[in-house]
Amino acid sequence: MCGIVGYIGKREAAPILLNGLRRLEYRGYDSAGIAVLNGDLSVVKQKGSVENLELALQEKGDRLYGATLGIAHTRWATHGDPSDRNAHPHLNGVGDIAVIHNGIIENHMSLRLELSSHGYVFRSATDTEVLVHLIDRMWKEEPSISLEYAVRRALQHVEGAYGLCVISSREPGTLVVARKGSPLVLGLGEGEYFVASDAAPIVEHTRKVVYLGDGEMAVITEAGYMVKTVENIETEKAVTELDFDLEEIEKSGYEHFMLKEIFEQPAVMEDVMRGRVRLESGSLHLGGIKDNLEHLRKAKRIIICACGTSWHAGLIGEYLIEEFARIPVEVDYASEFRYRNPVITPEDVVIVISQSGETADTLAALREAKDKGALVMGICNVVGSTIARETHCGMYTHAGPEIGVASTKAFTAQVIVLYMVALALSQGRTLGDDEIAGYLQELSEVPAKVAQILRGNEAIQSIAESYRDARNFLYLGRGYNFPVALEGALKLKEISYIHAEGYPAAEMKHGPIALIDEDMPVIFIATHDNTYTKILSNIEEVRSRKGRVIAIASEGDEEIRSLADHVIFIPSAAGPVTPLLTVIPLQLLSYHIATLRGCNVDRPRNLAKSVTVE
Ligand code: AGP
Repeated sequence: MCGIVGYIGKREAAPILLNGLRRLEYRGYDSAGIAVLNGDLSVVKQKGSVENLELALQEKGDRLYGATLGIAHTRWATHGDPSDRNAHPHLNGVGDIAVIHNGIIENHMSLRLELSSHGYVFRSATDTEVLVHLIDRMWKEEPSISLEYAVRRALQHVEGAYGLCVISSREPGTLVVARKGSPLVLGLGEGEYFVASDAAPIVEHTRKVVYLGDGEMAVITEAGYMVKTVENIETEKAVTELDFDLEEIEKSGYEHFMLKEIFEQPAVMEDVMRGRVRLESGSLHLGGIKDNLEHLRKAKRIIICACGTSWHAGLIGEYLIEEFARIPVEVDYASEFRYRNPVITPEDVVIVISQSGETADTLAALREAKDKGALVMGICNVVGSTIARETHCGMYTHAGPEIGVASTKAFTAQVIVLYMVALALSQGRTLGDDEIAGYLQELSEVPAKVAQILRGNEAIQSIAESYRDARNFLYLGRGYNFPVALEGALKLKEISYIHAEGYPAAEMKHGPIALIDEDMPVIFIATHDNTYTKILSNIEEVRSRKGRVIAIASEGDEEIRSLADHVIFIPSAAGPVTPLLTVIPLQLLSYHIATLRGCNVDRPRNLAKSVTVE
């Protein structure tokens, strides 16, 4: 999704802004642009990569140098095609105000009509352009007001979501930013300030940050900053220390972030459990929810809301909570939940899951649940994110920054958190202390087992060679491995653009079996559990229709060798932890198929890392 960087200080703005844009590339974008203030505003913007923008800047050259104030943007098209003219920053008619914007201005059509009737000429198809003309109009109406007031007045006419930065040669030395819906972080340096849509461009300059809240603006000069509400009430903001290092957002020798993040999983899993799982006493210490644990245990029903991969983790959470704690669970797509007027009572508990903590649909589901009186618990990766701040209680996944658009380590971290939550809910109710200790022991053995699977990477790569040209894939699993089948299919389609479907294995005969022929590879997750023999029958059904079979199986399973074209073995484990193991080969398989096809795995087409629009 779109990315924002702003800088004000004593250093050259352009290189800082460009570097910041590079750090935001992972979010997904299709065009990029920069505006700096050096007497006049200089703008360079175009369709394509930040690398191309840098080349264009070199050609334009001198005008940018010496500027110590600027804003820059990566755009992910929503209104208007990806093109030079639709790229941000956008300027007013005379070119003395520049705006960059994340989010969607919902009433842009009516504002555009109104501004056009006052003679404003639009040069792009974006919703953002109305903002810059609106600010211009407010300023023309009251020429004595400051940039801050012109922005404030303009925002009173705006409906929708925004994270925006504004600079103007009419008031050089001021950077005005505002937030509603789309996140903005302020980085506090020594005599310099940074603004960004997430902390990635800031951490190499300073660890001190201020997260703007919804409906807040910041007015920043070299001398300092002030945060106010859009209604002009001054706000005291806490300064937060960033909890990650620069090297965590770099590739550390791996070819892609996705591969690095897949390989980080054993260490991440240890981090998720650290301080929470106490093996010596067989107990759990979940600080983020301890004050609400009794409320959570008494829930009549738990509703889990999330999107994409986080939704798949939620499905595993449903199986875990129902098995361990015997509390009924429903799992909803956050986007559906928010619009279907769900029945929620104060006796319900809603768990929202989000890696980024900024997904617009999940945030809206959270607010809907809160409005209806439910206790809302969050499971987020990004510390200080909006969802983390708005929930009543919650747990961080501590997976570290996830840069690859395809979620990998965040997924396994979410599942571990859900596993711990399910056990905590069962404590003193449905499971005895010994049983809980046993399940914790199983969990603690997972990181080493994942490391063992990762050592089979080369074998998985050679399987990928055989399927790089496939056009369709079917993923089948049962029980805990049904959500893994969904997740495996999602991973493959988002980074390799191969059509893939996940199904509960037994559903195959109700439709998908019609697709099976020699061109349809089928991935079976066939670990040893109570449905194993049934899955073997499903494999036979595929083979008798000439489908090619890749099986993910428990080590030592010789029977499956004779049935499948390829087998990837995983260490044996108890059912509830198997998703944490079976998903690993599927992540690697997708990664290798995608790289063999020449796809950009870290920044797949059309996708954004954090989906902050509906
Ligand atoms: C995962 O690989 C996807 N890129 C996507 O489905 C993602 O999980 C979804 O957009 C939800 O994001 P969140 O966890 O940040 O809320």
